[in-house]
Amino acid sequence: MRPARGTVRLFRGDARRLDGVRDATVHLVATSPPYPMIPQWDEVFRLQGAVDYPGMLALLEGAWREAHRVLVPGGILAVVIGDALRRTDGEFRLWPNHADTLVAAARLGFRPLPYVLWKKPTNKPNAFLGSGFVPPNAYVTLDCEFVLLFRKGLLRRFPPHDPGRLASRFTRAERDLWFSQVWEDLRGARQAGRRGRTGAFPTALAERVVRMFSVVGDTVLDPFAGTGTTLWAAAALGRNAIGVEWDGPTFATLAEEARTRGLLATDPSPPR
Ligand SMILES: C[S@@+](CC[C@H](N)C(=O)[O-])C[C@H]1O[C@@H](n2cnc3c(N)ncnc32)[C@H](O)[C@@H]1O
Repeated sequence: MRPARGTVRLFRGDARRLDGVRDATVHLVATSPPYPMIPQWDEVFRLQGAVDYPGMLALLEGAWREAHRVLVPGGILAVVIGDALRRTDGEFRLWPNHADTLVAAARLGFRPLPYVLWKKPTNKPNAFLGSGFVPPNAYVTLDCEFVLLFRKGLLRRFPPHDPGRLASRFTRAERDLWFSQVWEDLRGARQAGRRGRTGAFPTALAERVVRMFSVVGDTVLDPFAGTGTTLWAAAALGRNAIGVEWDGPTFATLAEEARTRGLLATDPSPPR
């Protein structure tokens, strides 16, 4: 039986300052930030004062710090992120977003857990960068993104026969597929939004993460909500969702969508 739908609360604001969210009230933070050193996100970072790789990482670190504050003990942080390949100052190199995010979150007190490699079939064709068929100057294709996983402190505890937990069971087949380290069965999401590419991840990915790391009745937060994929998935699965989005037009579209879906718990907070 499908659980009753959850509700969605929305805030227009900054993932680094979740004023509307109290300490230790969120069970799962599932999100995908703007990726450092990916040109699509340069302007968004620049408008927030982050103009180089360390600055971009520092911005994201502020969001992970805030995620730690709002999570309950035992709550999970799931971060979908990809590395970047880019030439700057004449140097073409990898910018290891996943590795730096792992280190930053661990420094903030999160416990790193085994992560997932999300192999995106759509990234594969025509991606070869190099010079024909001779070594050594070609590059391996970046066709995986990462679902980094962290826990705040020790394991979450439940009373015996907790109804929300029992209602959140997955099947053996789901467990075998979801808890393997490489996910090859999920396609990328459609990227066209009103203002160009959205950076959205697929609904199936959001649903999977929500079902793996939260139970019915929990609160799921996406502090970089974008088109709201996490929020709609969480609400459909009987979790209550909180979404935070900094960009005005993106936020307006998000709020309209939440209203259309009849999911808003309260009116969105006014822009700050
Ligand atoms: C990769 S997209 C998220 C896409 C989302 N997972 C989806 O499926 O649509 C990142 C989002 O974070 C927003 N953003 C950037 N900086 C932010 C900040 N400081 N606080 C909150 N949101 C921010 C961007 O405007 C963008 O919508």
